[in-house]
Amino acid sequence: MTKKIIVANWKMNPPAVARAIYLSKEIDKGSSKIKNTEVIIAPPSCFLSDISRVLKRSKLGAQNAYSGKTGAYTGEISPLMLRSLGVKTVIVGHSERRYGFFENDDMVRRKMKAVLSVGLKAILCVGERERNEENFQTAVRKQIRENLKGIPKRFSKNIIIAYEPVWAIGTGKTVKPSDLYEMGIYIRRSVLDMLGHNAARTIPILYGGSVNAKNAANFIGVDGVDGFLVGGTSLRPKEFIAIVKIAGSI
Ligand code: PGA
Repeated sequence: MTKKIIVANWKMNPPAVARAIYLSKEIDKGSSKIKNTEVIIAPPSCFLSDISRVLKRSKLGAQNAYSGKTGAYTGEISPLMLRSLGVKTVIVGHSERRYGFFENDDMVRRKMKAVLSVGLKAILCVGERERNEENFQTAVRKQIRENLKGIPKRFSKNIIIAYEPVWAIGTGKTVKPSDLYEMGIYIRRSVLDMLGHNAARTIPILYGGSVNAKNAANFIGVDGVDGFLVGGTSLRPKEFIAIVKIAGSI
């Protein structure tokens, strides 16, 4: 049985390191005995170092990385630097970066390559902006095609895809389980075109967008869904642990 993956994406929270350490300890302790799950905590980068020292069972994640190795890139952080802090997985192409910080498909692709080529895992976030977009499936397919272009097949085992419809992020709106099922098939079909059969079958697909302890069971029960990318609720340890439990029980 493959483990369910539950990612805590804290975004630009909490405001101080002491609280970040507290939250990570609570999540780590509370989820340590939940079987069949892998918990990844992705704090703001300035807290990575402190948090790496307190995690026992959970893995350390980063919310972003730059595509360069070292050099004159003021304010940026490279995958190598993240790796040296104990980061195992990097979130790439989150919609808040695509639309808030103008990351285009080419930048996302270069980031994917940079992260994967230093041996880290990459969570590629994709998702349509509006559900009533006529071609929302095509929009997701385009992202997958553009963002995985030129990525060698040998990196497939380190790629995770998070389907996060932008309209569902932080809004309390969620996707219908039947639509999620369909999108899962569509995503695997798009992965097949880029990375082949094996990747299409085995790549984990996470759902993200207003996941909480009340609705998590609706999504994790969907065939082909392997976990969650959780934003707001990941700052509430008890509720986040409840989500991990739900994921582990399937
Ligand atoms: P949300 O965020 O759970 O607060 O909707 C999800 C995400 O942006 O990854």
